[in-house]
Amino acid sequence: MDLQGKRILLIISGGIAAYKSLDLIRRLRERGATVRPVMSRAAQEFITPLAVGALSASHVYTDLFSREDEQDVGHIRLARDCDLVLVAPATADLMAKMAHGLADDLPSAVLLATDRPVLLAPAMNPVMWNAAPTRRNLDTLKADGVCLIGPMRGEMAESGEAGTGRMAEPLEIVAAAAALLLPQEKPLAGKRAIVTSGPTHEPIDPVRYIANRSSGKQGHAIAAALARLGADVTLVSGPVTIPDPAGVAVTHVETAEDMLSAVLSALPADIAVMVAAVADWRVVASAGQKIKKKPGEPPAPLLLAENPDILKTVGHHPDRPRLVIGFAAETQEVETNGRRKLDAKGADMIIANDVSPATGIMGGDHNRVKIISSGGIEEWPDLAKDAVAERLAALVADRLSKPA
Ligand code: CTP
Repeated sequence: MDLQGKRILLIISGGIAAYKSLDLIRRLRERGATVRPVMSRAAQEFITPLAVGALSASHVYTDLFSREDEQDVGHIRLARDCDLVLVAPATADLMAKMAHGLADDLPSAVLLATDRPVLLAPAMNPVMWNAAPTRRNLDTLKADGVCLIGPMRGEMAESGEAGTGRMAEPLEIVAAAAALLLPQEKPLAGKRAIVTSGPTHEPIDPVRYIANRSSGKQGHAIAAALARLGADVTLVSGPVTIPDPAGVAVTHVETAEDMLSAVLSALPADIAVMVAAVADWRVVASAGQKIKKKPGEPPAPLLLAENPDILKTVGHHPDRPRLVIGFAAETQEVETNGRRKLDAKGADMIIANDVSPATGIMGGDHNRVKIISSGGIEEWPDLAKDAVAERLAALVADRLSKPA
């Protein structure tokens, strides 16, 4: 990975993970990048500007109101004279400032003033990472086009607590920076992909519906990853609360029947990845008005009918995409059930996962999957859903590069 001539503005904010930023500077420089460091006041409580300056062979910028620094380069030039702004570690506090456009110190002012790509390597306590304000800020930042690497799962340096919040390792951050800085191959350019995501809602009456716990995170991440490799992606999404991914055409639907017709009208395609947790049943005659309780009478039974199987329909369609991939959300016998679905649905690959509540996969940010195909089973480690999506997109590109 050659980063020769690439100029990286490295913002170090105040967390214990700042100690890893020293190594990160070395890793970036040994690949030829120049690193200009900016440190928040809190960062200087963890590592010294002396060490950062020595390793980067650069002046270290710390103060928005420094007369010399402002005369020398100034925060606006600092924000622009670079190819990438990398924030490692990115604290919850700095992310909150970014999400709200605050600019009361040098790191936040630079981040508001920059027109360059921004890559964050968040690091914080798992409870802070999962806290509702951080979640909201994260959604805002993603929608603003900010890129992220990590945080990873593991033990926290200070408390020994386990969970998601550990900063990505320096080499992982270097790879993510390189992906943004170097021209990317687009192996899926010219290919069309259809992805389904999220749950479906099956109405009982105008105010009630049958649904499931799917968040859409995995499906949306896959749609975005395929688009990043150059595919022309149509995402058919059930009702979710996460934002539409960038670079993807999104059709929003409610029910399984609507999802099927949206998928069929997006054919022909080269790739179909059916990630949605489609409700298996719908209410036969959903009521036109809200169903009322009748005092003393038991509730009327709900008569259910089976929904169309979208994956199976696509898997057996005359316009079948060359690569049809399904998911198998299981709570037991993951492999056996996955294999059965591979045959029954006419898929080339089934991504099987255990969604028992204890795994935290449904609605969570991580996934642990097995890739089942006629060639056998491949087990992937516990990965962020974004990382599963990256790997799957790479696998799709690899499959399509081979003769049919
Ligand atoms: N699927 C679909 N349409 C349906 C049901 C499922 O397209 N009506 C797709 C899902 O998107 C997923 C795969 O089929 O890719 C497996 O879904 P899952 O719900 O795990 O399997 P089912 O076939 O519904 O089997 P069961 O509920 O019995 O496990």
